[in-house]
Amino acid sequence: PTVDATGLLVLPGLVDMHVHLREPGMTEKEDFASGTRAAAAGGVTTVADMPNTSPPVATAERYRQKLDLVSSKAYVDFGLYGMIDHDNDGEIAGMAELGALGFKLFMGQTTGDNRCPNDAAIFRGLEAAAAAGLVVGVHAENDHLLRMFGDRLRACGRTDPRAHLEGRPAFVEVEAVTRIITMATESGTKLHIHHLSTAAGLRRVMALRAEGHQVSVETLIAHLFLDDSAYDIHGNLVKLNPPIRPAADVAALWNGIARGDVDIIATDHAPHTAEEQGEPDVWKAYGGFIGVETMLPLLLTAAAEGTLTVEDIVRLCAYRPAQRWSISGKGQLTPGYDADFVLVDPTAQTTLDAAALHSKHNVTPYHGRSLTGSVVATYLRGQLVYEKGEIIGGPGGRQVRPVREISSAAV
Ligand code: NCD
Ligand code: ZN
Ligand code: ZN
Repeated sequence: PTVDATGLLVLPGLVDMHVHLREPGMTEKEDFASGTRAAAAGGVTTVADMPNTSPPVATAERYRQKLDLVSSKAYVDFGLYGMIDHDNDGEIAGMAELGALGFKLFMGQTTGDNRCPNDAAIFRGLEAAAAAGLVVGVHAENDHLLRMFGDRLRACGRTDPRAHLEGRPAFVEVEAVTRIITMATESGTKLHIHHLSTAAGLRRVMALRAEGHQVSVETLIAHLFLDDSAYDIHGNLVKLNPPIRPAADVAALWNGIARGDVDIIATDHAPHTAEEQGEPDVWKAYGGFIGVETMLPLLLTAAAEGTLTVEDIVRLCAYRPAQRWSISGKGQLTPGYDADFVLVDPTAQTTLDAAALHSKHNVTPYHGRSLTGSVVATYLRGQLVYEKGEIIGGPGGRQVRPVREISSAAV
């Protein structure tokens, strides 16, 4: 079919390497159908789904069950992460065989009880992932320090939204980043730091890179488009792990993007129910909020303001993610690649309306923002899947599998 793109830009479909679509077991928050419809509406044609579900995806059997459960429900293509937990290194190869895109390691407490604070267990997991030739994506916060600071704040009677930020100071991230990069180099693991959030964390990564350590870095839309003034406006809705930071950190992340130090921008689309988001006690509130549908409009707006270029958006949100995870056929609009593309109107002026979004619970701190640039239509492998507010057709998404680079040393 011919596509009339007069006056529009054609971009490769975005590849969001960090979403939580909540299957199995948490479908009151989101499910594969609703989450991937939101992705299609946001110009995102490939998502990487995280394993901190109920139960978590930490064995080959659970991986197979999840694949069976979600495969017929996806409106865009998807990859699935397995998890590295405290004693599942024997399961990593089996998950890799089934097509795992990579493995998520939670060093510190976040949604679900998946944390792996034990260094020996972390190292065994890193070795197993290296042997499988797959990327490990890490939530880098020191769990022991998080707990200590959290206990102190609770003992003082603090329950306000800002206590979450105070309980997760930057050095908690710096410490974890330093430790995991050091271990990943030793184990020969391809390492990716998810949601790096602080100036100090980015400085440390760059210092370690200068010493020869290889690691990719992701920043979140939320850490770029919100600063700590958001606690006063949105309360616990903007509770996020790692937390929304002061403006100086936000500026440092944008500088990192301008210098090319940040490899990837992702959403950490992390839905919760409206009740969970409305919880006034910060220790009872859940971390994370939706974002897969609003990433591209926010970035296009930043591009219209001159903060980055459209080419930067394509590199950070499509080309680099596909390349880093060795997802063949994605991330570029050239012959030989899938015809995953998005038509955007770079000059359309709109106001972001939460009610128009496609997730199960459309609470977003970006409601009411003025936008320049909007998604007009999304195509998945040549098929129209979204146009002007409407999802077109049924769930035609497929699992994407990485091309594994298994080193001879690991065989
Ligand atoms: C994520 C979630 O809710 O699954 N929450 C968050 O605050 N980021 C988990 C995570 O990515 O750490
Ligand atoms: Zn995380
Ligand atoms: Zn996440």
